[in-house]
Amino acid sequence: MTSLLRVLILEDDPNDAELIRRLLADQFVLEVTRVQSKEDFDSALKTERFDLILAECRLGSCDGLSALAVALDLCSGVPFIFVTGTAGEDLAIEGVKRGASDYVLKTRLTRLVPCVQRALREAAQLTALRRSQAYLAEAERQSHSGAFAFDANGSLYWSEGLYRIWGFDPGQGVPSRMWQRVHPDDWKRFRKVVPEALRNRRDFTIEFRIVLPDGTIKHVRSIGHPSYSDAGDFIELVGITTDVTEAKRAEEEHERLRQLEADFAHLNRVSVLGELTASLAHEILHPIASARNNARAGMRFLEMIPPNMHEVREALACVVKDADRGKDIVDRIREHIRKAPPRRERFDLNAAITEVVGMVQNAIDRSRVSVRISLLEEAAPVVGDRVQLQQVVLNLVLNALEAMSSLDDGPRQLFISTMASATAGIVFAVHDTGPGLAPEQIHRLFKPFYTTKPTGLGMGLSICRSIVDAHGGKLWAEPNDPRGAVFRFTLPATAQAS
Ligand SMILES: Nc1ncnc2c1ncn2[C@@H]1O[C@H](COP(=O)(O)OP(=O)(O)O)[C@@H](O)[C@H]1O
Ligand SMILES: [Mg+2]
Repeated sequence: MTSLLRVLILEDDPNDAELIRRLLADQFVLEVTRVQSKEDFDSALKTERFDLILAECRLGSCDGLSALAVALDLCSGVPFIFVTGTAGEDLAIEGVKRGASDYVLKTRLTRLVPCVQRALREAAQLTALRRSQAYLAEAERQSHSGAFAFDANGSLYWSEGLYRIWGFDPGQGVPSRMWQRVHPDDWKRFRKVVPEALRNRRDFTIEFRIVLPDGTIKHVRSIGHPSYSDAGDFIELVGITTDVTEAKRAEEEHERLRQLEADFAHLNRVSVLGELTASLAHEILHPIASARNNARAGMRFLEMIPPNMHEVREALACVVKDADRGKDIVDRIREHIRKAPPRRERFDLNAAITEVVGMVQNAIDRSRVSVRISLLEEAAPVVGDRVQLQQVVLNLVLNALEAMSSLDDGPRQLFISTMASATAGIVFAVHDTGPGLAPEQIHRLFKPFYTTKPTGLGMGLSICRSIVDAHGGKLWAEPNDPRGAVFRFTLPATAQAS
């Protein structure tokens, strides 16, 4: 051993002290402090740090046992060895009972070095053990967990962290009635899990709730692993319990927010459709009017003498087509109003856009806006929820129309396009020639409840962004040249539209 060994020797005989020092110096690099009285011993321990304490049992002024008591109090991990004459042997034995590491008789000083070596080794092991225990305790604290174990003899172990989770005092030992703290609704499952695991020789995982005396409820997850001897006998079960209350709350909160978002998205769709009533009514009236004309024509062909049955059949086929068209429109509206879980299907974004433009045609006409549409030639195949993405397009187009309707002069032009991009997939854009966006506005547009309209909800863009995000795309706004705003979103392209 090459590191410095700091030794405190309590010895009033200078010759003995010197002998001890020499014996140790053969084996260790030493720094020796010798004291002769209990007072000096106490103050040395208080002011300095030592790696080893050697003490005579019978001193003129005191006995070694009171020195031991002080050492155990001030530096309990430091090995303490009595080095004493035969007359002190009984005292030394008593000292070892009280916590001294060992004793060596002065008549057999050859034992001193091996005895010191062993005491130092044990002290180092003890320190390492205490340190790892402290680390484990800290790890339990940080991970909100605790360990448990029981063996075939029925001996039960609970770690500090487990006491903390169950809300018991470690000083009282493992509580015999901890099951009283299991939530009544979970008790049936709880009592079955360990016997079942043992019966099936399998690991178990169980989530249950703990109710503390003050009413606090904790959600915990326990996992356990039984082990067996080669002969198949149960040896022990070791497990860990983790307090998952916070994670559970976060999960619930997340679910609540997701639900809220879905509710808002639904609300937005319904309220936007409300704004479009005029447009939609017009769209439905169209096939109805057409059906009426075709029916009348059919009647006229029937009234002919003889009736022209060929034309009648033709007219009736047209009526059926008109009715189908009307039904399609109503189905589409219903689809938008319905509160359905998100879908994943492959569809053509171009067709979905054309449908939306149809829905807002009346609003476009009303706001005296000229529209130019330039869509990808073939198709724009994407995967996702068609209705949700139509909602995004609808919101962006309506925003553009609303922005331009506040203009007193200047052209009102709406440009809707889809383009293919090598990096981003498919890019959808709405250009308008409205008042445009102030630089400080651009960051706030997509925040919930940001609106500059007297009756605006300010949820439109925030919903659009979360829908586009959920589809793996991006939505952003930029100034248009020379005036107005551009809103663009990207969607990953897929191979083929079905
Ligand atoms: N095309 C646009 N041109 C100018 N401003 C816009 C445009 N689109 C959105 N905005 C601004 O963003 C705000 C938020 O839009 P949105 O989230 O759809 O809520 P709302 O339409 O209910 O106000 C609008 O109030 C408006 O100030
Ligand atoms: Mg809006």
